[in-house]
Amino acid sequence: MSKRGVFITFEGGDGTGKSTQAKMLVAALQARGVTPILTREPGGTPQAERIRDLLLQRDSGHFDPLTEALLLFAARREHLVTKIQPALANGDWVISDRFADSSRAFQGYGMGLDLETVENLYRMVAGDFEPDLTLIFDIEPEKGLARSAHKKASTVNKTESGEDRYELMGLEFQKRLRKGFLEIASQNPDRCVVINADQDIAAVHAEILEVIESRFALSPVFSGLKVDGGRG
Ligand code: TYD
Repeated sequence: MSKRGVFITFEGGDGTGKSTQAKMLVAALQARGVTPILTREPGGTPQAERIRDLLLQRDSGHFDPLTEALLLFAARREHLVTKIQPALANGDWVISDRFADSSRAFQGYGMGLDLETVENLYRMVAGDFEPDLTLIFDIEPEKGLARSAHKKASTVNKTESGEDRYELMGLEFQKRLRKGFLEIASQNPDRCVVINADQDIAAVHAEILEVIESRFALSPVFSGLKVDGGRG
């Protein structure tokens, strides 16, 4: 790939506010002249969204953890090769609300699937491909759960669609998730940045923008400044 875009993933436990922040980052980048593609996992393409429906609907019951991981990685493979990688090859920025660290944290640390198995599945579907930056939204599990309970109470349709299987797993599960995400961050210091999600929305957004601006040279054109070509 001669020209490559930027791939940023948003990760964390439930109720960290990352989906709101992903949308806010898209708007902030648009204001700087970059139009990122916002996507999510599980899902992101029509076929992968069908696998998402299987995974998240309550009435589909529980899967064996390895079966669940296989479904997630099947969806991820589809998402990666039909959407993420072509966009990056085209020079686009792609922001994904969750990606492979969610499998490490949820299926590995949370559900007890062997971490090596998760890594092997990752290598099978993605090879040595990695996000350029992963933001890990961190909040105390008690607070995160309270936030998602509040959100659920105010979004009737989401409750009716039954998309809450993982959130039903409770506080101990969320604690294992948090430990997992923080370990992933400390094992991958070049790729991951932990974001303090226990702040107001504007403060979290500012923290994220600072990270993005320090990592990626947004061209002066993108910041709305005129570029002096040196001839004038
Ligand atoms: P979603 O409603 O998108 O939750 P959130 O707003 O917290 O991102 O549902 C996605 C759920 O799927 C979420 O609870 C995390 C879970 N998940 C996994 O368990 N493993 C994975 O690899 C991915 C991508 C998600």
